[in-house]
Amino acid sequence: MWLPSVSFVLLCMLQLATCTEDFYKLLGIDKQASERDIKRAYRTLSKKYHPDKNPSNETAKQKFVEVAEAYEALSDPESRKIYDQYGHEGLKQRSQGGGQHGHDPFDLFSRFFGGGGHFGHQPGQRRGPDMEVRVGVPLRDFYNGHQTEFQLEKQQICEECEGSGSADGQVDQCHSCGGHGIKIQKHMLAPGIFQQVQVTCDVCGGQGKTIKHKCPVCEGSRVVRKVSTFQLNIERGAPKGMRIKYENDADESPDYVAGDLLVTLSEKEASLEEDNEGRVDGTFFRRKGDDLFWKEVISLREAWMGGWTRNLTHLDGHIVALSRPRGAVIQPGLVERVQGEGMPKWHEDGDSVYHTTEFGDLLVEYTVILPDQMDSGMEKDFWALWEKWRKKSGVDLQKDSGRPEGPVKMPVKDEL
Ligand SMILES: *[C@@H]1O[C@H](CO)[C@@H](O)[C@H](O)[C@H]1NC(C)=O
Ligand SMILES: *[C@@H]1O[C@H](CO)[C@@H](O)[C@H](O)[C@H]1NC(C)=O
Ligand SMILES: [Zn+2]
Ligand SMILES: [Zn+2]
Repeated sequence: MWLPSVSFVLLCMLQLATCTEDFYKLLGIDKQASERDIKRAYRTLSKKYHPDKNPSNETAKQKFVEVAEAYEALSDPESRKIYDQYGHEGLKQRSQGGGQHGHDPFDLFSRFFGGGGHFGHQPGQRRGPDMEVRVGVPLRDFYNGHQTEFQLEKQQICEECEGSGSADGQVDQCHSCGGHGIKIQKHMLAPGIFQQVQVTCDVCGGQGKTIKHKCPVCEGSRVVRKVSTFQLNIERGAPKGMRIKYENDADESPDYVAGDLLVTLSEKEASLEEDNEGRVDGTFFRRKGDDLFWKEVISLREAWMGGWTRNLTHLDGHIVALSRPRGAVIQPGLVERVQGEGMPKWHEDGDSVYHTTEFGDLLVEYTVILPDQMDSGMEKDFWALWEKWRKKSGVDLQKDSGRPEGPVKMPVKDEL
């Protein structure tokens, strides 16, 4: 009883939405957009809203249909002109007059991406190989998080011919193999004895189709190799070696559904020349899990006498002050743990209102360097100072070590 009224309301809403949403706005482009821009917008959005990627999401499904509709309207120069002048109403009248009607949005999708308009959930659907790439990311971006992009050359369905390989859209069945792509050859082994061999059709190359006027861009191969740009969102504290999946973004072909592109984040080693902008110490921190490591060099005087401050600049530019009051000794090799100055701890579900970002620790190892040269005056002063205090309270480390004074005669083993 209630069903018809609900679907009626839904229908109205759909109607309303398609009538009000501007096609250019829907595709995120402006009125001057080139044919290429329109295609690019369609490729991005149709993938985003595809029902296979948004299961049981009516909003997305509707968007998917609308995006296809907008593309159909704007990709044809004639209908685009009408749309620009008369809007949706103009197109409606045109389709009524010309007997044209809306196409199946899945058909359109498969012209761009192959694979029958779906993402290969169907059994028996061929799927292309996955692609693996590594992207080198500087430590700074792992620490702060970074919205960036990377480029990759891959095989794409030719935009010019939409994967048909034909300049005029006409594709004929191969006359040589009858569209099967294979032929049976008979070899005579001996008089009256034949062997049958299946071979790939040499006329169509196994496609089963021939093209009279080949697409000038792909030369009939239906695909091109092209550089694509991908958005990459590096989350704060993302672990090294993290894999990010771009569904169905591997090599495309009209013959199969594209596999996934798998991006592994690896840490790019910092270089003195390139990454030393602003001389940020953090650039050269070393990372292990959530902790960071750093070696700080201090002088003999600082190590022994204390009374110093060092300002380390961290990866986001804030200062981590290291210091000792006068009289505080630092032994060479000492490791100081500065709590909360390590990497942000990454969580699968991101930082939410329920947990604020926690940080690992920064481990500072002190290296003490001794001067190997002194002014002769200074050397005399130090020598005298040492002599004075040695006589008073010095210890003889050789004597105190308990070592024997001379060579030791080892007992000879008895022969058995
Ligand atoms: C449905 O899809 C739309 C458009 O992509 C999105 O904004 C919305 O969050 C989705 N809803 C659910 C429940 O996933
Ligand atoms: C370290 O930074 C603090 C401010 O954070 C500043 O007051 C101090 O002078 C700096 N010390 C050195 C040695 O640069
Ligand atoms: Zn053939
Ligand atoms: Zn082409």
